[in-house]
Amino acid sequence: MTQSFEDPRKAAEWSAECRKRGQSVGFVPTMGALHAGHLELVKQSELENDVTCVSVFVNPLQFEESEDFAKYPRDIEKDFALLASVGCDLLFTGELTQFFPELDGDPAHTERIQNVDPGPRACGLEGAHRNGHFDGVAKIVRRLFELIVPTRAYFGEKDYQQSLVVEDLARALGYPVIRRVPTFREPSGLAYSSRNARLSEAERDVAIQLSRGLFAARDAWRTGERNAEALTQRIRGEFKGPGLEVEYVELRDPARWEQGGLTGEVTAARALVAARLGGVRLMDNLDLDETAIANRETD
Ligand code: PAF
Repeated sequence: MTQSFEDPRKAAEWSAECRKRGQSVGFVPTMGALHAGHLELVKQSELENDVTCVSVFVNPLQFEESEDFAKYPRDIEKDFALLASVGCDLLFTGELTQFFPELDGDPAHTERIQNVDPGPRACGLEGAHRNGHFDGVAKIVRRLFELIVPTRAYFGEKDYQQSLVVEDLARALGYPVIRRVPTFREPSGLAYSSRNARLSEAERDVAIQLSRGLFAARDAWRTGERNAEALTQRIRGEFKGPGLEVEYVELRDPARWEQGGLTGEVTAARALVAARLGGVRLMDNLDLDETAIANRETD
């Protein structure tokens, strides 16, 4: 049976009890408005752990624009029903002041929250386009890890750069093991995202251009194209709008992330894109070399 708590301290106690009994604890941190992509993370956690818990907290610290924060979709009852349908053990929520007791009950005093360095892999891409975003992510993820002390934590590849930042954070803390789960897509190719709920039918047709561009670049890779500019051009070639405002299209080598955007001839590449559409921010990414993914998975 799925339990739920509205106080993160209760979730911390629950997790401590589980660990005392020798159970492994899988953890899926989310901001709610759950979709099939989140449920894949939960299912993966259930396969690998004795118990699984999910947090739902729309973290104001990671939003640059208060409007984006206000408009972020929220539906806790539906979230609970979805988690119950896949047999998740615990859902917990909380207020900012509950996660951060150092605020002394006043959410305005966010300067009291200790800074957490999101590390070098936060540079560029989302780090460049969303001021303070990874600082906010690092603060809440560290606090969540401190509360739950999970054995394993699950993050979607949809937020690829975030998963790298979180890996570094987990390494610095000494826990948990981070599992990165491949992006779950609709049959059209559109990556599942909570923000898709804010798209109209017409916008959805435009949003599909993001994944179409990425898959066009993968097709080009398959036929031997290795030039970063040509591959980027293949992606941009699918972005026809209307209304799509592209923020970035970049190729990076996951093993040498800190080098920044790739140019010239490349041997490995993940393509990352972000765009705005009718006030909704969309992101997607894809490893262009499927054989590299297959090799990594059999490592
Ligand atoms: O990916 C998300 O939903 C959020 O960034 C996270 C990891 C739950 C932190 O608020």
